[in-house]
Amino acid sequence: MNSEVLIIGGGVIGLSIAREIHRNGITQITILERGKIGQESSYAAAGMLAPNAETGEAGIFTDFCTESLSLYAQFAENLFAETGVDIELDRHGTLFLSFTEKDSAELLHRYEWQKKAGLKVEHLSAQETRKSEPFVSPDVRESLFFPNDWQVENRKLLHALRKYAELNGIEIREDAEIKNILSENGKVVGAETENEKFLAENVVLATGAWTSFIKAENLQMPVVKPIRGQMIAFQTAKRLFEKVIYSSRGYLVPRADGRILIGATVEDAGFDKNIYDLSTEILREAAIEIAPSLGNLQIYENWAGLRPFANNGLPIIGNLPHAENLFIATAHYRNGILLAPLTAKIIAEKLAANRNSEYLEFFRPQQARSNDLSLNISI
Ligand code: GLY
Repeated sequence: MNSEVLIIGGGVIGLSIAREIHRNGITQITILERGKIGQESSYAAAGMLAPNAETGEAGIFTDFCTESLSLYAQFAENLFAETGVDIELDRHGTLFLSFTEKDSAELLHRYEWQKKAGLKVEHLSAQETRKSEPFVSPDVRESLFFPNDWQVENRKLLHALRKYAELNGIEIREDAEIKNILSENGKVVGAETENEKFLAENVVLATGAWTSFIKAENLQMPVVKPIRGQMIAFQTAKRLFEKVIYSSRGYLVPRADGRILIGATVEDAGFDKNIYDLSTEILREAAIEIAPSLGNLQIYENWAGLRPFANNGLPIIGNLPHAENLFIATAHYRNGILLAPLTAKIIAEKLAANRNSEYLEFFRPQQARSNDLSLNISI
């Protein structure tokens, strides 16, 4: 089978790239997914679009997150027009709570660097915090409010992106695990599964935590490793919280249908997606610290996903050296849902118009060294 672009990996990054290059006039697109479309970390995610809460300092990564967020309103609107699927972009904002002196010191640090960087952030007293979210614990000391940290229903986003592909003749192959990248005369010409070859002018690897398993003659793949996140969810009859709420020990994401997602562990545990009772209990405690009344609820769902981690937590986006038609877009770690629109845009600009975003230089695969893989693990 021949394509203009072969995308390996059918998570939010691969699907968003497929859509964006299609919108830029490339029509022969194939997506190969080793399992089922949109069932790995993009599905396990909580859908926070949170440059303020998820970054730790000013710099190009925070700029990348902020710029990707700025694309989201249009992304959601266009997806709705294209597919009829509402991805539930929710702009109520995010609170970051303090319960201890240490939390307050961290909040102050965050407030100061974010103000200086021009990010929108407001300080709220305990009383203001509880006025804005009445179910928050009376033990809260203070909080930060990030009006520009939003959320999206990531499972609906995946549904919308898949539907876009189906409506627009983008070929999707599930259960199609790549064994090798194919080259001829030093040029990448496609990829092969156990029993089929897929030829293409360009190949994009959006292979998340599985990137290091891809084999390509004379090319070295960056090292990407899985970092497990376990999650739990409660179900309430109606929505109890307006905003996404973080503490230093966990976060709570209220969905429109009354579900409350609680996340997440950060564990270097290989490709194990099991759920462990101890982690479930720790997540429950983090939730109860934020809002004690959650202690009365039964756990409705629990699951785990594998975040793709590399390069000090930074994404890897760009060409592999000596392989000008092989692109990588991976290692979005905690921010794949947030970073999908801008990742797709810069890859599409490169493929459709040979335009080089500065981000392709900054996040290029050569930057990802295996000694940047250490991580402070918390659970
Ligand atoms: N973005 C939240 C997480 O990865 O847990």
